[in-house]
This record gives sequence, structure tokens and C-alpha cells, in this order.
Amino acid sequence: MKTLLIVFHSLTGGTRQMAWAAAEGASAEPEVQIRLLEARDAGPADVLAADAYLFATPENLASMAGQMKDFFDRTYYPALDRINGRPYATLICAGSDGQNAARQIARIATGWRLRPVADPLIVRTQAQTPEAILAPKTIGSADLQACRDIGEALANGIAAGIF
Ligand SMILES: Cc1cc2nc3c(=O)[nH]c(=O)nc-3n(C[C@H](O)[C@H](O)[C@H](O)COP(=O)(O)O)c2cc1C
Repeated sequence: MKTLLIVFHSLTGGTRQMAWAAAEGASAEPEVQIRLLEARDAGPADVLAADAYLFATPENLASMAGQMKDFFDRTYYPALDRINGRPYATLICAGSDGQNAARQIARIATGWRLRPVADPLIVRTQAQTPEAILAPKTIGSADLQACRDIGEALANGIAAGIF
């Protein structure tokens, strides 16, 4: 049985919906166990035990969310050189940008020698005002489907030994 680890953080719910959609898509593959963990609850043992990764974060202040950074800070060196070549994908929930958060995760994943299986999926909520930014988010069905597709592709790929 292979394991897909989905690590996420979400302040206003957008990234959470994306991560859950990816988990739902991955659950179509019966040979893969899905571990869906909030970033604060995930640690080195979870990273080492997984065969593939989905990292999902909001972009906050032109960066991945602090909780997500904390997850990488706690797991980077314990996992370094022990997970080389494993596949991963990234989901970003942003207001209007998201590129920098995606770049930051790509750099960390490069250090870990992980293999990207898709371009980062960036969903933009278009929230601009403080009120809109702090409001609960609803991610549209097309974007949720794209998250499901990435989850399913990752799960299928590790089950079939393609990645
Ligand atoms: C403190 C803070 C900073 C933010 N900075 C950015 C930013 O730099 N770029 C951007 O595109 N969106 C930014 N946003 C908007 C969030 O990325 C957006 O609201 C997204 O939906 C948050 O995901 P979540 O619902 O999972 O928390 C920021 C939001 C907050 C609360």
C-alpha cells in the first residue's frame, strides 16, 4: 500500500477545500492510503513514511503561510537525502498572485530532490479588500475539479509505479 501525504494550512478555508478535493480525487485509487494533515500536525515521520506529497498553502504576504513554512522548517533536515526522487505537486490559494509561494515550495522540493509531477495549481480568489481577504472562501467547482484531478493523478501514478 502506497501513501500520499497531503499537508495543508488554511486561514479562511480556501486551501482547505482545495486539499480536501485533492484527497477526494486521490481516494479513487484504492491502492493508495491518503494522509490529510494540517501543517501544524505534520512532522518528519509523516514525510519519511509517504511515497508522494501534495503541499497546499495560501499565499500570505508574498510567501507561503507561516504554518506551512514551520512545517518545512521542522521536517527539512530530518528528511534530507531520505526522500530523493519521490513525486509531489503543489496547490496554492491566493488573492491575486500566488507565484512566490509556489516558487518557495519549488525551491524546498528541489533541495529535497523531489520530482514535480505537475505545474503548481494556483487558485485566485480575487479577494483584494481587508473585508474580502478575511471572509470565508468558497472555491469554485472547476478549480475544485482541478484539485481532484491532481490528487487522482498523483495517486494513480504511485499506485502504478509510474512516478
Ligand atoms: C495576511 C494575509 C496576506 C495575504 N497576502 C497575499 C499575497 O501576498 N498575495 C496574494 O495573492 N494573496 C494574499 N492574501 C490573500 C490570500 O492568499 C487569499 O485570501 C486566500 O484565499 C487565502 O487562502 P485560505 O482561504 O486557505 O486562507 C493574503 C491574505 C492574508 C490574510
